[in-house]
This record gives sequence, structure tokens and C-alpha cells, in this order.
Amino acid sequence: MSVTFDARSGIITLDTVATTYQMKLAETGHLLHLYYGRRIPGDDLTALIPRVDVSFAPDPYECRATRTFSLDVQPQEYPAANVGDFRVPALIAESADGVYGDDLRCVSHAVRPGKYALEGLPCADAGEEDCQTLAITLRDAATGLQVELLYGVYEKEDVITRAVKIVNGGDKDIVLHRASSAALDVPFGDWQLIHFQGRHAMERQMERVDLMHGIQSVGSTRGASSHHHNPFVILCGREAGEEQGECYGVMPVYSGSHRTDVELDQTGDVRLVTGIHPDMFRWTLKPGEAFTAPEVILTFTHEGMGALSRRYHRFLREHIIRGKWNHAARPVLLNNWEATYFDFNTGKILAIAEQAAALGADLLVLDDGWFGQRNDDNRALGDWFVNEEKLPGGLDALIKGVNGLGLKFGIWMEPEMVSEDSDLYRAHPDWALTVPGRKPTMGRNQLVLDMSRGDVRDYLYDTIAGLLRKHHIEYVKWDMNRNMTDVYSRALPADRQGELFHRYILGVYDLLERLTTDFPDVLWEGCSGGGGRFDAGMLRYHPQIWLSDDTDAIERLYIQHGSSFGYPVSAMGAHVSACPNHQTGRTVALGTRAVVAMSGTFGYELDPNALTDGEREQVKAQIARFKRWYDVIQNGDYYRLAAPGEGRFAAWQTVSADRGEALVSAVITHAAANLPGIHLRLRGLDPEARYEMDEMAMEGCQAIADAMYGQDAAAERPVYSGAALMYAGVTLPVMGGDYPAAQLHFTRVK
Ligand code: GLA
Repeated sequence: MSVTFDARSGIITLDTVATTYQMKLAETGHLLHLYYGRRIPGDDLTALIPRVDVSFAPDPYECRATRTFSLDVQPQEYPAANVGDFRVPALIAESADGVYGDDLRCVSHAVRPGKYALEGLPCADAGEEDCQTLAITLRDAATGLQVELLYGVYEKEDVITRAVKIVNGGDKDIVLHRASSAALDVPFGDWQLIHFQGRHAMERQMERVDLMHGIQSVGSTRGASSHHHNPFVILCGREAGEEQGECYGVMPVYSGSHRTDVELDQTGDVRLVTGIHPDMFRWTLKPGEAFTAPEVILTFTHEGMGALSRRYHRFLREHIIRGKWNHAARPVLLNNWEATYFDFNTGKILAIAEQAAALGADLLVLDDGWFGQRNDDNRALGDWFVNEEKLPGGLDALIKGVNGLGLKFGIWMEPEMVSEDSDLYRAHPDWALTVPGRKPTMGRNQLVLDMSRGDVRDYLYDTIAGLLRKHHIEYVKWDMNRNMTDVYSRALPADRQGELFHRYILGVYDLLERLTTDFPDVLWEGCSGGGGRFDAGMLRYHPQIWLSDDTDAIERLYIQHGSSFGYPVSAMGAHVSACPNHQTGRTVALGTRAVVAMSGTFGYELDPNALTDGEREQVKAQIARFKRWYDVIQNGDYYRLAAPGEGRFAAWQTVSADRGEALVSAVITHAAANLPGIHLRLRGLDPEARYEMDEMAMEGCQAIADAMYGQDAAAERPVYSGAALMYAGVTLPVMGGDYPAAQLHFTRVK
């Protein structure tokens, strides 16, 4: 049993294989949080929480005489405002009488096999055997507001999911101003915050900071999870590293505006509250109505950030990402965007496709520019009919040509947007988010469609489903290229406008749910100017998401490194593009570009006709190599060996589940003279087994000297024990030049 309740002590314990999460139902009815950490066998941890009289910490009425039970210092499961806890609240509600805050007391709890479902929101799935659900209902007697705290306990995966349903059980309206998904109080310890910040074309840069007293927040008010702050944070002990140390992972399954607040309070305790961003959020609950706050995926490990990441990778692949393409081999694609931008026609695309097929690619993706008058990015979004001037004979003629070459055909769309200069906008100006009487703020000279509207979603469903039914399209890149401003819906009354940010993303989920259900064979790749909506919510619909508009291999090292803390390789769209790189102007060897892109879904975004014969041979070999190693790359356990920027190289490794195969990749980011070769200790191998290094690719090197373990560089297929590779490590041959790379492939000797 992963959930146990002791009626006498009021202790509720959630056990997974390696962790314990404990709560206490206090005599007052308050639900306290006692512990989340390494597995503890059956103890009651009540004594952890001291009962002391802290000055200026107010007490619930019934504790006024003892003064030792203030909510301001007690760790809680779901703290509400205005009842004695001055730390950051999870819930702020206002009654029709103007009363702020809720005195939440427990009224019931229930344990069920299997996993709870959340209506209209993406969340992790589970078979009855995989998960137990705990539901705890709290209630505020004065207003009738009810809060149902939901816990999904994945015993084997060491994951606990949380979500919240808030019900108006009273007889008057209640307005929610803040409805977070979870609070996590961590009393004691010296914690640091790791978060993933960035900007367009530089997403998910890992940042590790000390906590200051007060509240530090990361989040987005952009209506999308954003390039700027990913909805994923780690709270880690100061001592934590890749291989050791305590870490909590907190990953909201949400793609809209979000915020995570981390407060270091007066007593040195930490509170983390995460969920929908409270700014401009105002949700009215009529009597009997319910509001559901998005799910959060929590995990804890004492084995460092590497273990934490691998746990998220597995969990997302098993319980979030779904559908045919989750575990199937994804196609190696060639996307025409950086090859042609808007300047293409059928002949040009077919010439690219012909080369792509000859090189061994599986899928040709036609990016932006195939529809309406879309000859630049100022117009035509919304006009999802083919531009016959560019593509005479329409999509079918092109698709036939592409399929005839043995390639699948995929297409780009940006369904949530509309250009002012489009037939769609001319017909339905009220479908865009704009404020009456005010000129809208433009982003990429386009507007955002009001996805909260059923008629907009129906129109988009019919349009996209129509295209997919009419043409043999096997892949869709779903883009979203601006953030939300002028957030006002003509379909909502004045007192409901505060719901629009969230209703927008619910609308996106609804449309994606319908389309992905009705077209299960299509491979959907998410995108938002690269990785502007790269989150667990979107991964429920898109098994892969274009990681970044920055295709520079060296910049990508940082982006992939940061992304790897939460997200699996199989989710990261990565392409080899032309050099000098279009975003940075940097030149990196073709081989190195491929080594980096192989740690993603792998594809090309360049004109293969512009390659030399020699480069074409290289690309052929790269694609063949990727396909040979597909399984260990996409499904293997991921180990970060050396972080980019910390030394003169970056290195990482994947190991197959049975530890029979491993691939090590390294890229030198800073050339230097008179240095020894790079030394790496491998991880995750079987120490007893012997591994043959059956392939070694050196890319972009000008000079190679020495070899591993002093053996001759030409020595074929050396064999080492797993113990030697992990404990002694390997020293790579010295590689010179700008950004050389190496890949070492190991197979266990039978
Ligand atoms: C976004 C995407 C790019 C490309 C362009 C097309 O920026 O991230 O990959 O599709 O749009 O306009």
C-alpha cells in the first residue's frame, strides 16, 4: 500500500520505493505537511514540527491560550490567505460578501486505486496498478469553499503528482484570485533553487542560486510557458551535484502563464508554491461550480540531479507523452526553413526532397510560407489554403512528388494566430484578442486568436482536420510565434475577463486533444519560436518540440544541457543547419553539428543541394550512424558528464536500459594549447561487464594525437571493464581545431 492513514494519530503517509511523503491531520482539522524525502519505514514524524510560541505569529482561535500552533510557522499542504499565515499563500479567494481568505479544515479523505483525471487539462496517466489516488477535502465553513487536494502516488517511479479541485459549496459566488496547484513546505535545510531562464533562441539556461530571505519568483505572464522561465524548478541541497545530494523536482503540467514562488521565511524554512500565474487571474465560481488547478509532477531523490533528471525522463515518456509516436522510431527529417525561408516553389522543394531522400532522411517538412499570400511574415496567418503560385497543382502534386521519392510529407502551421492582412481577420476581426477602442500591441505583426471561443476552435478543427483528411500529411509542426497582449475576449462578460489567460490555454488543449485523438498517426511537433512553449503540458500532445530557433551547435549545447534536467532527448527537436550559422554567424564543423543534433530527434535544416560531394557523404554516414544508435540515444538513460561553460568541453552519455550499450559524446568548446586529452568517467555501466568500444567518431579535428589508455589511436575495438570505464575513466585523444567533437560507442561483450 503506497497510501496509509492512521486514524489515531492523523498521520497520512505516501510511500514510494525510495521516498516518503507525510502529512498530519491536526486536531484542529488543519492539514500539516511533515516530511518529503528519503524513504522512512512507518515512523510518525509529528515531533519534527516544534510547538513554540513565535511572536507575531497569530494562532487559530482554539489555540489562543497555548499560542504554540500558528499557521505562520506550521508547514502546511495548501495554505490559504488571511487566516494567520503571512507567507506566500496557495489560495486567495474572495466571497460575495467581500471576505478574503479561507480557514481550511479537513472534512474527509479517500484512497482509490488508479489515477485521478483532470477535466480539460493534460495530466499524467496510469494503469490501475501503477498509481494510487489520495483525495483530501478541506472546507472553509464561513463561505462553503471546498478544496480537494489530489495526490497521485506512483510507487515504482518515485513520483507524486498533485492537483487541486476547488468547488464552491456555498450559495453565493466566490472569486478566486489565486488558485495554485501545490505548496511544498520544506522545513529545515540549506536549499538552493535551480531554474531555467532564457530568451528567444537561448532557452532554458540553467541557473543555480542561493535563496534570499523573502520571496523569489520565476514565471511567465506571456500566456505561454515561455522562452524566459520554464515551468520546472529544482530545490536542491547546497551539497547536491550530478551524482549525489538531495533534490526536489517541481514540474507543472501547464503551458500558460505560470509562477513558482520560493520563500525563505523568518525561521529559515522554505515554502514553494507553484501554479497558474496570479497576475490578471480572476475566476468566478458560481454555487456548485468547480475550478481545477493544473497538475504538478513532484519527485525527490538523495542521489543528485542526474538521478532526478532520469526519473523525469522516464516518467514523461511513460505517463505524459503518449500515442503511436511516443515509443516508435521518429523519422529523420529535413526542414526547408533555413534552406529557403519564404522563397520556394514546388521545383525547389522537390529538388531538396530528392537530395534528402538520397541522404537517407525519412520526412520532408515544408515550413512557413505555403499558404495564402504568405511571402513574408507580415501577412496571411489564418489563410490555411495553398498558394498555387508557389505550389502549382496544390499540395497534392507536391506530396505526390515527395512520397514518390520515398519520403513522408510534413507541414508547418500556426493555428492560434491571425495576421491583420488575412482573409480570416477580414471576415472575423472579433476572433482576435484586442481591446475595444485601443490599437493592439503587435508581435511579429500578428494577432492572437481567441482560443477560449468554441467557434474559433471549431473553425480551426475543421480547417486542420480538412487538410489532414484531404492530403497525405504525416507530420504537423504546430507553431506559436508571439505572446499574448490585449487579453480581452469579445465572447466573455466583463467579470469573466480575468479567466481569459487560462481559458485560452484550456482552448488550445481542447483543440489539440480533438486533433491528436482523431489523427493518431500524425506526428505532431510543437514549436513556439523554437522552445517558447516547451513544457510537460504540451508534451501530452506533441511527442517532440522544436527546442530552439538557435541552431548553432555550440549554443545548442547549453540549451540541450538545461533542457535535459527535466526533459528527455526524445522530446527535443534538433537539426543540423548550415554554416556560418544563421543566428550567430559561427562556423562549426559539420560533424560536430551532427554530434550535437543527435542528442535530439535529429534532422537537417539546410539546402542539401548546397553541400559538397564530400559533405553529402558525411551526412549519409551521420544519418546511418544515428539510425544505428537510435535506441540508445532516444530511449537510453541520460548522464550529464561535463556541463558546457564550466570547463573547456561539454560531454554527455546515454546508456541502454539493460546497460548493454552506451554512447558518449563530447564537444570541445574552447581550444587551448599544451593540455592533456579530455578525461571522462563514464556512468551507469555494469562494473562487472566488459565493453568493447566498437565505434569511435572524431569530428572537426585538425590534429589527433595519443589514444585512450595509451593504446595506439589506430587500435581497433579496445575492450575495457565497466569498472575501468567508470572508476578510472577514459582519456580522449587530443583534438585540435575549432569545436572538435567525439562520439564513442560501447557494446557489452557477450
Ligand atoms: C518560428 C519557428 C521556426 C520557423 C518559423 C517560420 O520561428 O520556430 O522554426 O518555423 O517560425 O516562420
